[in-house]
Amino acid sequence: MEFSTIADAPEKSRSDCIVVGVFEGNELSEPARLVDRASKGFLSGVLKHGDLEGRVGSSLLLHNVPGVAATRVLLVGLGKRAEFGSRAYRDAMRSAVRALTDSGATSAAAYLAQVPLADRDVRWALQQAAAVASDASYRFDQLKSKKPDRRGLKTLALQADDARNGAAAVGRGAAIGAGVSLAKDLGNLPSNICTPTYLARRAQELARRHKLECQVLDEREMEKLAMGALLAVTRGTREPAKLIVLHYRGAGRKDKPVALVGKGITFDTGGISIKPSAEMDEMKYDMSGAGSVLGTLEAVARMKLAVNVVGIIAACENMPGGNAVKPGDIVTSMSGQTIEILNTDAEGRLVLADALTYAERFEPAAVIDIATLTGACVIALGSVASGLYSNDEGLAHELLDAGQQSWDRAWQMPLWPDYDEQIKSPFADVANVGGRPAGSVTAACFLARFARKFRWAHLDIAGTAWRSGKDKGSTGRPVPLLTTFLMQRADAAAAPAPSRPAKRSAAKKTRKAGRKR
Ligand code: BES
Ligand code: MN
Ligand code: ZN
Repeated sequence: MEFSTIADAPEKSRSDCIVVGVFEGNELSEPARLVDRASKGFLSGVLKHGDLEGRVGSSLLLHNVPGVAATRVLLVGLGKRAEFGSRAYRDAMRSAVRALTDSGATSAAAYLAQVPLADRDVRWALQQAAAVASDASYRFDQLKSKKPDRRGLKTLALQADDARNGAAAVGRGAAIGAGVSLAKDLGNLPSNICTPTYLARRAQELARRHKLECQVLDEREMEKLAMGALLAVTRGTREPAKLIVLHYRGAGRKDKPVALVGKGITFDTGGISIKPSAEMDEMKYDMSGAGSVLGTLEAVARMKLAVNVVGIIAACENMPGGNAVKPGDIVTSMSGQTIEILNTDAEGRLVLADALTYAERFEPAAVIDIATLTGACVIALGSVASGLYSNDEGLAHELLDAGQQSWDRAWQMPLWPDYDEQIKSPFADVANVGGRPAGSVTAACFLARFARKFRWAHLDIAGTAWRSGKDKGSTGRPVPLLTTFLMQRADAAAAPAPSRPAKRSAAKKTRKAGRKR
C-alpha cells in the first residue's frame, strides 16, 4: 500500500472513499462535522436512524453523499469520547482498513489522526495509522496457484495539517509496516522453502537493496570458531546451517552498534527429544526471531536511521537423524563453557549461546536477542506480551517503553540468580534445561551466561510471533518494538546538546543499579 498525506478538507478529497469518525451517542468528530455541513445534514440524518452505534470497531459505508467529492464515505465508530485513547484509535483504524478492503475502493483518505487523543500526539497517530493500515491489509497468497481476485486498497492518504512533520511520521509508520511484512512473509513460508540457505539469500538480497554489508558463515567457518553448541543442533539435518551477519551503518564509525541476534530454527522437530505431532507444523515459525531481525533492518534502512546495527542470525534445522545430538551429550560452546544437552528440544538457547559469543567481536553498545524460545512463556504471558529479560535495568526500560509506544508490548521477567540452581549440571558447566517450573526464566538464565560481556536483553516471543487457528499466521512482532527502540536511540543522539549530559548520567546510574543481580 502507498501512503501520502493530505491537507484538503474531507468533503473536497477526490478519493474513492473518505473515512471520518463518529463517537458513541451520534457525536460527530470534527472532520465528520465538516462532511455533515457540506452535505447539509446528511450524516446526522443517517445516524438518527440508529445505523451506527459508534462502538469502536463498527463502521458504516455510505454512497452518493451530497456535497462530497469522494465516491464513498466510511463512518467509523470511535467509542466514547471520554475514553478515546491510543487503543481505541488503533482499533478504529484497523476496522476502517478492513472495511475499505472489503469495499470497491482502491484509494481512500482517512481523517482520524487529527482527532485529539488523550495520551498521544498527532505525529504518533499518523505513524500508527500507516503501520496499522499496512498490518491490517497484509495477505500471504504467494503460494496459491490462483491468486485470489483482490482489487484491494492501493493508496491511503492521511490527513496532516503540518505537511512536513506529517509526511515524516507517515514515512516511519510505512517503514515499520514494510519491516513487519517482511518478517511475516519469512515466518509464513514453510520450512521446505524457508531453509537456512533461503534465509541467507534473503539477507543478501536485503543487503543489496539497501547497500548493507552481509556475510554468511558456513559450517566449516563455524567449526573454526569452535561453535560447538550451534553445530550440535544442526548435526541431525541435511540442510546446511548458516550464520548470517548484516551491518547497517547509519551513524558515525565510532558509534558502537546495537546487535540484534535472532533465533533462526527454520524447523524445530525437537530432534531426538522429538515433539508430539499435534501442531508441529507451527514449528516452521521457529525462525521468527531471525525474521524480526531482517524486518527491523528493512525498517531501519528505509528510515535511514542514524544508528549502527549488526544483525546476527543463527540459522539451522533441528531434526532427528543418525548423526543427531543425543540427550546426555556434552558439547563445548564457543565461549568455552561446556553444556550438558539433556533435552535436544531446548535447541534455541544452544544456537543463541554461540551467536551471543560471536556478537562480542562487534563491541556492541547493547545486544538484544529475539527468540521463540519457550512454550512456558506462552503459558506465562499468552499472546499479548513478549517476555523481556535483561542484565541492565536502563536497557530494559528503553525496550519496555518502545513496546508501549509501538503497541508491541513486552513484560519484564526476573533474571535472579536463585533460578540458576535449576540449570546446574554435575557433569558440565551448565545444563540446557531446568525442569518445568519457570521454564522461560531458566532459559533466559542459560542465555545470560553467554551475555556477561555486554549490556544484554532477551525477548521471548514464543507467544507473540504468530497466531494459531482460523486467522493463523505470523504477526511480524517484535519488529515495531525493535524499530521504535532504535528510533528512540537515534532521536536521543540527535537531540540538542543541553539535554544530553543530564540524560546520560541518569541512564548510567540506573544501569549500575541494574547490574547487581
Ligand atoms: N521452539 C520451541 C518453543 C516453543 C514451543 C515456542 C511451542 C512456541 C510454541 C523451543 O525450541 C522448545 O522446544 N522449547 C522447549 C524447551 C523445553 C524442552 C525445556 C519447550 O518450551 O517445551
Ligand atoms: Mn525446541
Ligand atoms: Zn525451538
